[in-house]
Order: sequence, then C-alpha cells, then structure tokens
Amino acid sequence: MIESVRELILAFESSCDETSVAVVENGTTILSNIIATQINSHKRFGGVVPEVASRHHVQQITRCTEEAMTQAGVTYADLTAVAVTYGPGLVGALLIGVTAAKTIAFAHHLPLIPVNHMAGHTYAASYVAPFQFPLLALLVSGGHTELVYMASRYDFQIIGDTRDDAVGEAYDKIGRVLGISYPAGKPVDELAHQGHDTFHFPRAMLEEDNLDFSFSGLKSAFINTVHHADQLGETLSKADLATSFQDAVLDILVGKTLRALKTHPVHQLVIAGGVAANQGLRARMHDALATLSDPPQLLIPPLRLCGDNAAMIGAAAHVAYAEGIRADWTLNADPSLSFPYSREALAAIK
Ligand code: KG4
Ligand code: ZN
Repeated sequence: MIESVRELILAFESSCDETSVAVVENGTTILSNIIATQINSHKRFGGVVPEVASRHHVQQITRCTEEAMTQAGVTYADLTAVAVTYGPGLVGALLIGVTAAKTIAFAHHLPLIPVNHMAGHTYAASYVAPFQFPLLALLVSGGHTELVYMASRYDFQIIGDTRDDAVGEAYDKIGRVLGISYPAGKPVDELAHQGHDTFHFPRAMLEEDNLDFSFSGLKSAFINTVHHADQLGETLSKADLATSFQDAVLDILVGKTLRALKTHPVHQLVIAGGVAANQGLRARMHDALATLSDPPQLLIPPLRLCGDNAAMIGAAAHVAYAEGIRADWTLNADPSLSFPYSREALAAIK
C-alpha cells in the first residue's frame, strides 16, 4: 500500500497591520487562514503606527495560532514545517511572527521556512490555478508596485519598480484629501465607478521606454487641484476626482504591464497584493488582454487572499520547501528584503 503524503505547513504573517496564521495542505488547500486586522486601531492616526502594530501582533498571535490549528483539525505532531514572513515590512511587526514561528519550530523539531512577503502575495494567485512558467506578476500593495518576472517557480526578478510612492500608498494619501479614512483603496475604487475623468491628471512615465512606475506626480496634481479649488471656495465632485485619479492609475499600471508582456512573453499574468482587489484594475486588465493575439492567462487571487494573509505565505512556503530553502535559529526580520534586480539577466532574455 502506498502511503499518501500529507504536507502540512503552519504559516505566519505579521509584516504590517494584519496578524495571520494559516495551515496549508500540499500548497493547494487552505485548512485555515485566521486574520486579525488592526485597521480600527490605526484609522484614527491616518495610517499604520509601527509601535501599535507590534503590540497588537503580540496580543493576537497566540490566539490566532490556536484558532488556525483548531480550525484545521490538526496537531503539532501532524505538521511538516513552519513558515514565516521575514520581510519586507515593519521590523517590530515582522519580529513577532518570526519569534512565534521559531518557537513552534524549535519546540516541535520542525523545519523553518523563511518567506519573502511579496513571494507570498504572488503565490496567493496559485490558489486560482497552478503556475506555468515563464510568468509575469504585477505586484501592487501599500508598500510595493513591481513587475516581477518568474522564469521558474522560485525565481523572482524585478523588471519594473516604482521610483517613488507605491500605488496603494497613493490611494491612501489622496483618500485622506477626500476625507476617507485609512485604508482608502476600496472606497476610492467605489467612488471611481460613479464619476467621469474630468481632470485628466498626468500619466507619469507612460511614454518612457522602461517598465518603471511613478505616482508622486499624480498624487501632487490631485492634491494641488483640491487645494486650489478650496482657495477659490469651489467644491469639486469627489466622484469625478476619484474617477480621474483611478483612470490615470489604471492607464499607468495596464500600460506598463502590456509593455512588459511585449518584451517578456509569458504563459500567465498574475496581479496580486492589496490593490489587486481593485475592481477597475481587474476589469481593465481583462479587457486589455483581450486585445492581444496570444494573451497570457490572467490569474488574480480571490478578494479574501489579496490583502495580507498567511495562506499566501503557506503557498509560497510549499514551493520554497521543495526548493530546499530553510532557515536556522538565527533567522531575523529583514524590513527591506527585496527580490533580486537582475538587469543583466533581463537583457539576456530580451
Ligand atoms: O497588500 P496589502 O494588504 O498590504 C501591504 O502589504 O501593503 O495592501 C494594502 C493596500 C492599501 O494601501 C489599500 O488602500 C489598498 O491596498 N487597497 C486598494 C483596494 N483595496 C485595498 N487599493 C485600490 N483599490 C482597492 N479596491
Ligand atoms: Zn502585503
């Protein structure tokens, strides 16, 4: 009789303002994915306060772990490995997850798998369909705006990056000007479906022959428009402002992604990260791909897996584990952890 192999990974995510613990089976089945959000505690400050985030993680992580194990119906003896996000993110927040994961791995004699948060976001899309390589990922979150080329399953190369603000950050900043509290992405997206692009904000770097992004000029144009109207005592339509902002963002994101697909033909296009929840982005990318003669398959995680969660870390850890990636007890948080930038390797692909 052949014994079936049941790989169970206990995964931790605590890089920002979500404490999350998940149990993932064979990299494809989410047995539990507990997410304790701290958004209400940060709202009154207009953004994430690192010290407050760390304290919340400490308070929540034990309860989340117990709940994840109970909901999954497994014991520590059943586990294959423990995985954890060790960067990028807030150092104090990351340390809570890293310490919890190390403690459990040490106590139960389990391997420890270190996971890059952005690899996790990418692998959230693998719950939709198995990955086929080469693959291109547009990673859009509160801290990142990146085009990542994957020639194989654990090879991440940044081919386009933001020169200034991340796209989610731009949503949160212009949201504040509209009187929308943090995080503003979802309400701005909803408003954007109710207005018209009457302001024609700049589409920075869209015509430039590179794959990089810039959002600070758009953000400044938005803020200046609102301040100027305030000084004149005029009231502008919030819906038109949101639509104008979102149209510019989508032109940039979709335009650069199409450019990348020309130079880097791939089988699949992943959109992941918190901003992948954007309804406008989902629709626009879908329509843009339909104009291509041989479009890649579009993979976007379901909404519950777009924001920070540990199930995505478990999916990436499954692949990292197969690749032999392990951490020892010296594993530390790395707040500015990044994928390799390999311009030379990219030149070779082109
Ligand atoms: O990936 P994530 O949960 O955390 C980070 O790793 O940063 O992303 C959070 C970001 C926030 O900036 C939030 O405003 C944005 O994702 N976001 C959205 C939408 N939902 C969340 N941005 C645009 N449209 C949305 N529907
Ligand atoms: Zn994230």
